[in-house]
Amino acid sequence: MTERTLILVKPDGVARGLSGEVLRRVEAKGYTLVAVELRRATPELLADHYAEHVGKPFYDPLVEFMLSGPVLAVVAEGERVIEGFRVMAGTTDPTTAAPGSIRGDLARTWDLPVIHNIVHGSDSPESAEREIGIWFPGI
Ligand code: RTP
Ligand code: MG
Repeated sequence: MTERTLILVKPDGVARGLSGEVLRRVEAKGYTLVAVELRRATPELLADHYAEHVGKPFYDPLVEFMLSGPVLAVVAEGERVIEGFRVMAGTTDPTTAAPGSIRGDLARTWDLPVIHNIVHGSDSPESAEREIGIWFPGI
């Protein structure tokens, strides 16, 4: 079934000049770009986006990180794109993310209060619908 997912190139990815590399991989895999916009997050938007993490020990550093620079917000579409992009992103910890994945190929762990791992991808159809509504209320 064709579906949509929300992808974010996080501030570390944008700062390192990897926005194009992430888009290249998404397109090369065969997914369609529906929306692409360089944006600044806000604390309110992040409280919505990361609602499941509010109150966790890494939440405040996560918000600070996500506000540290622009993010590239992307909606991509395709058959099973939600699951497909999660596999392309790799697991959360970039040190052990599989080679071949975005995080496995392009990131590593730094001694920082929160993990910097280049991308976000929606983790379920419910999350995707919710997150697309937060970042792109018009579409
Ligand atoms: P994402 O939501 O960004 O696609 O990443 P994810 O599903 O792989 O990871 P999640 O558990 O949803 O965590 C969201 C983001 O918070 C940061 N994080 N840091 N212990 C830590 O320092 C820690 N745990 C999570 C990461 O940036 C993670 O991607
Ligand atoms: Mg997540």
